[in-house]
Amino acid sequence: MRTRPLKVALLGCGVVGSEVARIMTTHADDLAARIGAPVELAGVAVRRPDKVRGGIDPALITTDATALVKRGDIDVVVEVIGGIEPARALITTAFEHGASVVSANKALLAQDGATLYAAAEQHGQDLYYEAAVAGAIPLIRPLRESLAGDKINRVMGIVNGTTNFILDKMDSTGAGYQEALDEATALGYAEADPTADVEGFDAAAKAAILAGIAFHTRVRLDDVYREGMTEVTAADFASARQMGCTIKLLAICERAADGESVTARVHPAMIPLSHPLASVREAYNAVFVEAEAAGQLMFYGPGAGGSPTASAVLGDVVAVCRNRLNEATGPGESAYTQLPVSPMGDVVTRYHISLDVADKPGVLAQVATVFAEHGVSIDTVRQHGRQDGGGEASLVVVTHRAPDAALSGTVEALRKLDTVRGVASIMRVEGE
Ligand code: NDP
Ligand code: HSE
Repeated sequence: MRTRPLKVALLGCGVVGSEVARIMTTHADDLAARIGAPVELAGVAVRRPDKVRGGIDPALITTDATALVKRGDIDVVVEVIGGIEPARALITTAFEHGASVVSANKALLAQDGATLYAAAEQHGQDLYYEAAVAGAIPLIRPLRESLAGDKINRVMGIVNGTTNFILDKMDSTGAGYQEALDEATALGYAEADPTADVEGFDAAAKAAILAGIAFHTRVRLDDVYREGMTEVTAADFASARQMGCTIKLLAICERAADGESVTARVHPAMIPLSHPLASVREAYNAVFVEAEAAGQLMFYGPGAGGSPTASAVLGDVVAVCRNRLNEATGPGESAYTQLPVSPMGDVVTRYHISLDVADKPGVLAQVATVFAEHGVSIDTVRQHGRQDGGGEASLVVVTHRAPDAALSGTVEALRKLDTVRGVASIMRVEGE
């Protein structure tokens, strides 16, 4: 074993960084044995130097992250600060000064992964980011390496722990949205600004990363259709239950049937209770990958939290250190297919539409005509007259599969009917 240690600079020591430091310290001997050289924590950059950080030598703490990555003797920079800047500048500076980088920063990778890959390649360094998608679950490496000989056609799953935690609590305990979000935040699952979670930005960033790797093309955050879960109500869960479904925030990346384009989207969807994703509880994540030769694969595990995420970070640290000892680098960007990303309107899906309608003859026929005019076929219709004397009925329509543009056009036309008093909810149905 080499006795000279490999030096790690830790940028950020919050929920994830503090666990990375703890495991690096407590498992130092095992890590050294697995790598073939000791790894040493050489510096820890934070914003608040006076905060007490148990188990970390105060002499390692600095607020000057730039000076730390410029030291020249650092082998691996672990970036767990988050956000776009200063993370991007620190990562590119690290490459310029001869360090490889391990990052958990999905927001940055989805927005500007190409710049980071290019800088890593230019300076002959590694860029690893297993922790950026689905916490502890090994997913990036299986896609980048194990499935590199196959053709992936679809990736679908739950990739945000916070929103799965909230939806699960709303469904299973009747908890309110805010109460469940507060609990997820206290458990360290939420982003620094939880809007990123609940409005679907975090899942969209992960979808962009997954689609890019799976289809060997560039997909950026802006290419991903995104709807958050803040509008999901207890009434939606009640409707879902009547259909034998539950509601999950899904990320779905697909290769078009003709292979000429891809789509990536994030939105809440009803899925049947019999579907494996329906039983993914709390902050767990699960992702299905459909590959031509391999068939269907499912990856499941803790999707957020300090310790699970640190596991993924340290797996990358070990891989990068091994590469350095072998004077090699791991895989770089693979974007050779250059497939365009199609708009949401082209995606084929199903809608569950709940309408408040006038309870009088001919209304059902009027509604059915609108569906027919848009080329959307109806699967099921349920109508309940209201007993409140207001002359209204609740009409629930579930469609067959149709392009999203046709489905959304149908909803717009329904809104214009005098007999449609309101569109109570619209939810896509997936997983059948
Ligand atoms: P935290 O907010 O808990 O920690 C951020 C850390 O960065 C803090 O230690 C903070 O310092 C430090 N920091 C902030 N700005 C600077 C700066 N300018 N210079 C130096 N240090 C700075 O975030 P998390 O640990 O939760 O997340 C970190 C990254 O990991 C993010 O990219 C996140 O998306 C990702 N991630 C998080 C997961 C989770 O479950 N939490 C799971 C997967 C990925 P100080 O302590 O002084 O405030
Ligand atoms: N906020 C993220 C989530 C952290 O809840 O999934 C893990 O990426």
